[in-house]
Amino acid sequence: MTRWPQVDFGHTSYDAAFVKGDVYGVAADSVHSTKRPLQIAIAGAGGVTQAKWIPAIRNLQTRGEPITVSAIADPRLDVANKAALLTGAEAFDTVKHLLELHRPDLLLVLTADSAHVTVATQAIERDIACLVEKPISRSFQEAAALARLAERQSTLLAAVANKRFSPPYAMAKALVSDGALKSAPTLFTGKFTLGYPYVDLLEGGTVHLLDLVQWFMGPVAKLHARAVKRDDGGIESATVSFSFKSGAIGSIMTSASAMSFKPWERVEIVGRNAFLVVDDQFETTLYDDEMGPAKSWRPTIPNTLMMDEAFGGYAGLLENVLDAIRGIAPLASSGLEGAATIGLIEAIYRSLSQDRDIDVAAEGLVP
Ligand SMILES: NC(=O)c1ccc[n+]([C@@H]2O[C@H](COP(=O)([O-])OP(=O)(O)OC[C@H]3O[C@@H](n4cnc5c(N)ncnc54)[C@H](O)[C@@H]3O)[C@@H](O)[C@H]2O)c1
Repeated sequence: MTRWPQVDFGHTSYDAAFVKGDVYGVAADSVHSTKRPLQIAIAGAGGVTQAKWIPAIRNLQTRGEPITVSAIADPRLDVANKAALLTGAEAFDTVKHLLELHRPDLLLVLTADSAHVTVATQAIERDIACLVEKPISRSFQEAAALARLAERQSTLLAAVANKRFSPPYAMAKALVSDGALKSAPTLFTGKFTLGYPYVDLLEGGTVHLLDLVQWFMGPVAKLHARAVKRDDGGIESATVSFSFKSGAIGSIMTSASAMSFKPWERVEIVGRNAFLVVDDQFETTLYDDEMGPAKSWRPTIPNTLMMDEAFGGYAGLLENVLDAIRGIAPLASSGLEGAATIGLIEAIYRSLSQDRDIDVAAEGLVP
């Protein structure tokens, strides 16, 4: 492996910093500024909206992306008003009311999980594209039905899979695509931990890892899960073993009894006499030479433009969805893929309750 893929993770580009003297990379550039202007509306104005998505929108605007936020709806009107103030948008107390007065090019569905499908359905029925936070729904049937509705209507439905756009994972994916593993992936192992059950372990947290499982390895054929339960019946820790349609195998462990702020996430992907590790969504290391050195890549933290919205993958994901709406890029994370991840969660619950292998396609858990 001699060439390291070029993956943008929010740093100023070399050309901007050292040739053009544009240290922050904010000068107008023809790639962004000549794109078709688009209007975004937002459903749900809570934590993830204010901490991740509005900063991601700002990030893209600062880099010249011609987008505006026209409207925000949240039944907590004080919260809607605050988010509206941050974006210059109009605030509404319901999405229905918002959609009566606005026709955005994209609705970001960032509500509590229970409202995702209802809200996205209202938009899709009006042929308005949606990007829906994870989990697209807690019910596989509902998630699959939403994805099928969007397909029937030919309306764009994207599922939040922000880790795909987080640079350490994007780097690993680019390395796999470039043949760095010397074969297709043969084995996947992954770890995801929450220190405390502040969100549901599978739907709230592990859903990200399950998306990565499928992104790197392709469709799951069968899985088998085992768990340790808390006193209230919730899952404290679980392991899941997979066989993939490709013939590869894999396993993950996920736990709410480890820690969140100490080592918390790790993915290893093995090919043939070569493997990749992504540690804590931070460092990507390629081991591809018995006698030579490992090659590792990690960011320079103090770089002025290294921001969470880029490093967390939110800005990259949003830019992809906007470009897909414009018809200038293929959609990277579809509603069908989001529904497939929920199918895996349902298969894990089924395997736990019946202690058996689940063939996900045979049991109707593929959208
Ligand atoms: N991608 C990630 O890494 C990530 C991180 C955190 C949260 N999330 C997801 O984002 C979503 C929101 O999470 P949060 O942490 O911001 O929660 P939150 O509770 O802070 O905010 C959710 C907001 O949705 C509003 N809401 C509920 N029903 C609504 C409806 N019908 N119409 C409009 N607004 C409605 C609530 O009033 C609340 O303000 C959840 O689905 C969560 O799983 C994803």
